Amino acid sequence: MAEWYDAYAYDVLVIGAGGAGLRAAIAARAAGASVGLVCKSLLGKAHTVMAEGGIAAALGNVDPQDSWEVHFADTMRGGQGINDYRMVEIFAKEAPERVYELERWGGLFDRTPDGRILQRPFGAHTYRRLCHVGDRTGLELIRTLQDTVVHSGVDVHMEITLTRLLTDAERIAGAFGYRREDGRYVLFRAKAVVLATGGWGKVYKVTSNSWECTGDGCAMAYEAGAELMDMEMVQFHPTGMVWPPGVRGILVTEAVRGEGGILRNARGERFMERYDPKKMELSSRDVVARAIYREVQEGRGTPHGGAHLDISHRGPDFIKKKLPSMYEQFLKLADIDITRSPMEVAPTVHYVMGGVRVEPGTGATTVPGLYAAGEVAAGLHGANRLGGNSLSDLLVFGKRAGEHAARYALGLATAPRADDGQAAEERALLARPFERDTGENPYQLHEELQEVMSQNAGIARTGDGLAEGLQKVLALQERAERLRSAGSMLYNPGWHECRDLRFMLTLCEAIFRSAIVRTESRGAHWRLDYPDQDPEWGRKNVVVRRANGEMRVGTRPVPPMPAELARLLEARA
Ligand code: FUM
Repeated sequence: MAEWYDAYAYDVLVIGAGGAGLRAAIAARAAGASVGLVCKSLLGKAHTVMAEGGIAAALGNVDPQDSWEVHFADTMRGGQGINDYRMVEIFAKEAPERVYELERWGGLFDRTPDGRILQRPFGAHTYRRLCHVGDRTGLELIRTLQDTVVHSGVDVHMEITLTRLLTDAERIAGAFGYRREDGRYVLFRAKAVVLATGGWGKVYKVTSNSWECTGDGCAMAYEAGAELMDMEMVQFHPTGMVWPPGVRGILVTEAVRGEGGILRNARGERFMERYDPKKMELSSRDVVARAIYREVQEGRGTPHGGAHLDISHRGPDFIKKKLPSMYEQFLKLADIDITRSPMEVAPTVHYVMGGVRVEPGTGATTVPGLYAAGEVAAGLHGANRLGGNSLSDLLVFGKRAGEHAARYALGLATAPRADDGQAAEERALLARPFERDTGENPYQLHEELQEVMSQNAGIARTGDGLAEGLQKVLALQERAERLRSAGSMLYNPGWHECRDLRFMLTLCEAIFRSAIVRTESRGAHWRLDYPDQDPEWGRKNVVVRRANGEMRVGTRPVPPMPAELARLLEARA
């Protein structure tokens, strides 16, 4: 009898083909494992490309005083102390080598006059540290890794959505899902799985994220028993487009400010003088996003509810060379020539600092055989990520997760058995929306969810608003039990939306529950009812896990820093 699913078997299955997934796949293959790489979309289409302005690594090419120690201190300070210092140390030390490796693999960078990789300033980095190619750095990184992957013997499976991790007792045994094109079910048997599925910006209305970013990997990990951490920490990038309405949220790279862009309110005031007179536009993202938010709230916003960002003083040649994508983006989408006029910008949801809790050196989650790297993993960025740190994050920790997953898989004495029963359960869940004649429309529910997140878990939060948001999410979860999809399984985005939505609802519950317990303001988590940092909370990460089918929230102590690293921070206070 023919199987009801297509089956594949690998030592290591990598889910997600952004920078972290590609780097993990390369590393696992190099370590001798057979590797399958699954993309929800087409290969090369990943949120990684939205890290436009550069990759942070202390090469010291432009500012020779830079060092891993300064990068460490900047990243810890940016994350406001709740980062895992062990991850930050590994990251700051290894980022330069990962950049040079990318260069050896064919990655192109802008150059200093003497031919070295050029570095630009970015928010809250002490020195010029962002290696870049114009404003298309993420794209170049993906292109380079993709070229390397396709020549490395990794099997690439495109347009597949995986919806359930399969386990054998406690161990990971593979993953199950469907092909987007024809709805056919797919089962991957694997000894180890690396999650590199990115974030869940699509739970918000205004976001730089595209349709894939629904948090499938994080929610699957939670359902498989993994612990999540710092879910309340959602990054609002200060500058997204605001006008016309159809482009709201599209990223305006921080490189505009890195190259000298100036923010002004509707009165023409350079308002960052009031919020961070030292760093001005190059303050950390949480500070600049809040500043723009405040200017708008206090009636000094631009006509469409933002601020003006002006780079025109740098002149057309410079702008077209250093910011070619921004030039074209504004010209084509907003009919604005940024060499002559300012851009209108406002905060947009860009990144999540929270995610699956991992071991700092290996990317191992709390589920044996399950690894995570990149945006889906928590710990490195704490309460606020510095721009440019995501690209180096996914190279450093993608490589480590791939290597450790391969080592684990190749070292197993007995292979885990992927259970058809679990796959059949998931098939039944996936098929449910076709079984009713009336029911809830997944798009409608998604829109309502985005409204709740924007109203109740936005830049400015209150206990009452968070409590109300949680109740609304729970009500949406109930309604999501009655989702309906018309049509067939053949390329049916409405049906795909049903499972994505359930994942998003789980993660939003985790965001609200975590945000409610953190009764302080820290980094991206700004509570109007608790406007100050509380030193007690500076020693805790918020963790979420599933127990008896229910979401449980608790805390874990932030790992205490050894004295020599603490001194690095003090020296740069
Ligand atoms: O603004 C940017 O170019 C984004 C960079 C990042 O998120 O790291």
